Amino acid sequence: MKNKLEKLKKEILNNLEKVQNDSALRDLDIKYLGRKGKFTEILRGISKLSIEEKKKIGKLANEIKNELQLEFSKIKNKISNKNDNIFIDPTLPGKKIDQGHLHPITQIQNDLEYLFSSMGFMVLEGPELESEYYNFEALNIPEYQPARDMHDTFYIDDKDKKNDMVMRTHTSPMQVRAMLKYGAPLKCIISGRTFRCEAIDACHEHTFDQIEGFMIGEDISMSNLIAIIKEMMSGIFERDIKIRVRPGYFPFVEPGIEIDVSCVICNGKGCPSCKHSGWLEMIGAGMIHPNVLNAGNIDSEKYSGFAFGVGLTRLAMMKYGIDDIRLFNSGDLKFLNQF
Ligand code: FA5
Repeated sequence: MKNKLEKLKKEILNNLEKVQNDSALRDLDIKYLGRKGKFTEILRGISKLSIEEKKKIGKLANEIKNELQLEFSKIKNKISNKNDNIFIDPTLPGKKIDQGHLHPITQIQNDLEYLFSSMGFMVLEGPELESEYYNFEALNIPEYQPARDMHDTFYIDDKDKKNDMVMRTHTSPMQVRAMLKYGAPLKCIISGRTFRCEAIDACHEHTFDQIEGFMIGEDISMSNLIAIIKEMMSGIFERDIKIRVRPGYFPFVEPGIEIDVSCVICNGKGCPSCKHSGWLEMIGAGMIHPNVLNAGNIDSEKYSGFAFGVGLTRLAMMKYGIDDIRLFNSGDLKFLNQF
């Protein structure tokens, strides 16, 4: 026991000599003198010795313990004196803290929400994981409707088969949800992420943002729709921008239109960002189909309404002159810090 104590003392003093900082000293203290430390373990063994041995070894152990504690406090003082001598220059400039900012899509979404609220539209949110009913059936897209193929997407397995769920393919499911909740007349917008199993290229993403808007009332017509779209375009682009309106098919509107924006990347000449057509498809819209109004418990004889769905990410492409949609979700700070 005596030899063990002497050997351990030597080991501890050797290690103490190498200690340079507070945390190393604390580690050493725990390793040897802590509750489960090596030295403490030996002290516990003393109780098993004979009375004679206990007296002899106990005295020695106490002497070594006191000596070690003294050495530990000497080293502690040495370290703190060293720290006291460190010169701090308070006139040096501080370390710059990087500040984040809103993503360009969020910025454009905020701008649009502000613009539409000023025209009396409610701003709503909807679920990204949506039931097949609201994403398709309530929008006059039954299971056999070929238009579902255009929204080939990510389905979520439901083991109980009670609720078939889908990552929403557009923001339009909120049309019927809002009608059921608020009734007519109604003016609202909904923006957020949408998902499609898409072949990715410079103007197609699998995850992209849309903003949906619709207005239901008595005598609402296509001219109200065009007026609102014009207001939106001049609010966002703050300059003249060439658009074209053409017929479009969506089962949930009748008649349906699509609105394209002249590509700002190539000035309408044709480039990969607009699939070499000179135009970028931006908005799907039309007069809400009576079947959809009925699904929303709204009397389609009394009320009519328009609805539109804007590709928010594409809108941001055209506003900021970004030639590849994939940059928005890339997380590339060199790109994002420009906004
Ligand atoms: C729709 O999603 C309809 N819900 C829009 C609508 C709403 C029509 C209300 C009528 C009434 P579409 O699939 O065309 O339609 O998408 C609308 C817009 O989203 C497109 O014009 C385009 O700007 C954008 N978009 C569509 N697919 C992608 C994609 N893969 N990547 C980026 N933007 C896309």
